[in-house]
Amino acid sequence: MRAQYAVIGHPIAHSKSPAIHAAFARQTGQDLEYGRLLGALDDFAGDVRRFLDAGGLGLNVTVPFKEHAWALTDERNARAELAGAVNTLIRLADGRLRGDNTDGVGLVRDLTDNHGFDFTDARVLMLGAGGAARGVLQPLLETGLARLVIANRTTSKALELARLGAALGPVEGRGLDGLAGERFDLIINATSAGLADAVPAIPDDCLADGGWTYDMLYGDRPTPFCRWGTEHGAVRVLDGLGMLVEQAAESFRLWRGVRPATAPVIESLRQPASLSSTPPT
Ligand SMILES: NC(=O)c1ccc[n+]([C@@H]2O[C@H](COP(=O)([O-])OP(=O)(O)OC[C@H]3O[C@@H](n4cnc5c(N)ncnc54)[C@H](OP(=O)(O)O)[C@@H]3O)[C@@H](O)[C@H]2O)c1
Repeated sequence: MRAQYAVIGHPIAHSKSPAIHAAFARQTGQDLEYGRLLGALDDFAGDVRRFLDAGGLGLNVTVPFKEHAWALTDERNARAELAGAVNTLIRLADGRLRGDNTDGVGLVRDLTDNHGFDFTDARVLMLGAGGAARGVLQPLLETGLARLVIANRTTSKALELARLGAALGPVEGRGLDGLAGERFDLIINATSAGLADAVPAIPDDCLADGGWTYDMLYGDRPTPFCRWGTEHGAVRVLDGLGMLVEQAAESFRLWRGVRPATAPVIESLRQPASLSSTPPT
């Protein structure tokens, strides 16, 4: 039997992960199958167990199960521990389940390796303090950035996230209304505001000269936050498609021990016919 992998979520029909992993498998000559599983909202653990009992070797986990997956694992690395969420499940030889969170690595690789962003001395603003923001916190703080401000509509959540990351690097939490007079070299949108065609309410002048914007969301046309970046003079305006492919590449490496090249896969997903405006993974 070919090695079995899948992505589990609810909903799941929109997921690009099967196409991404099929491309990785072709490129690296790995003999595997990667499907999609619609997880039952009340029986995630049962769905995972049945997949593994049938010989499955690993799963990607997406909304709304990443926290459930964290709770299901027998062991997790530090970044998954801090994230409180797992997007990659790995069945170990002894049957135990290891959990990892590759979202943050995906974000940082997309910015640095694919686009050449230099985090050294960078002042970074991350908008949002939900699952996506928490998931990328450790890799972001490990980049050597000068300062990370987490700003969220609900201030208490930003303060809590900053408290969790405080031991790892220079991070502080704010409300969205606490950014007056601040300038940032990179603004990362980790909110879900774009799904409602909205942009977080931030000051017009908080992007520094030469600053970049990055929206974790992506779509077949510029997202609302990408449009914000363009309108506010960002020198680079990036969406989250590269992050999606990079987090998948890291999962693939964890499972198969080989790291696929991501550029051709990102490029093929940029073709209009293969994109949709649905949420990622
Ligand atoms: N590219 C990728 O690979 C990738 C991976 C993961 C996630 N994502 C994307 O990241 C985004 C966030 O996902 P999530 O899982 O973190 O969602 P979540 O846990 O539901 O958190 C949502 C966050 O967005 C904020 N928010 C929602 N509407 C807002 C608005 N109108 N104005 C300001 N803030 C608003 C919320 O603030 P409050 O706390 O005040 O409610 C919260 O901080 C989604 O768009 C998702 O598609 C992309």
